[in-house]
Amino acid sequence: MAVAICPGSFDPPTNGHVDVIQRASRHFDRVVVSVAVNPAKTPLLTPDQRVDLLREVLSHLDNVEVEAYDGLLVDLARKRGAGVIVKGLRALSDVERELQMAQMNAGLYEAVDTFFVTTDPRWSFVSSSLVKEVAAYGGDVSGLVPDAVNRLLLKR
Ligand code: PNS
Repeated sequence: MAVAICPGSFDPPTNGHVDVIQRASRHFDRVVVSVAVNPAKTPLLTPDQRVDLLREVLSHLDNVEVEAYDGLLVDLARKRGAGVIVKGLRALSDVERELQMAQMNAGLYEAVDTFFVTTDPRWSFVSSSLVKEVAAYGGDVSGLVPDAVNRLLLKR
């Protein structure tokens, strides 16, 4: 069984994230969406909120599961028998950081490869941090995030 991991902070999940996960789900038997519990960052949403939102918006995909993960991504890959990490690339500016992470992960665990999906151009300018900033000032992000995420942002 071919298992892939789609890792990220997902704070909050965006349409770009959903697009990458949906496309990964077409190519792998199982996709594990891993929500990073990163103590170095102060997230807007708790890990549980991010997991619940992702489970809701991905509920139509039978082969996708969502879990929070606190630790090294490669350890999760080992535990789940995942040979591939799938990440989205929006623009050249993503490449440097993504390449660093992919090479670090490959150095830590040689059985894992990182596959990059080019994002749908509709979402190439969308990032969680921009969404948070615009929403914090009352801007409309309804076209950039799933409805459930927009509803939660409006409540805050
Ligand atoms: O959404 P992001 O910020 O691009 O996601 C980054 C993420 C969560 C994939 C990365 O920080 C990660 O894998 N964190 C888990 C801890 C880890 O393994 N760190 C080393 C990565 S090379």
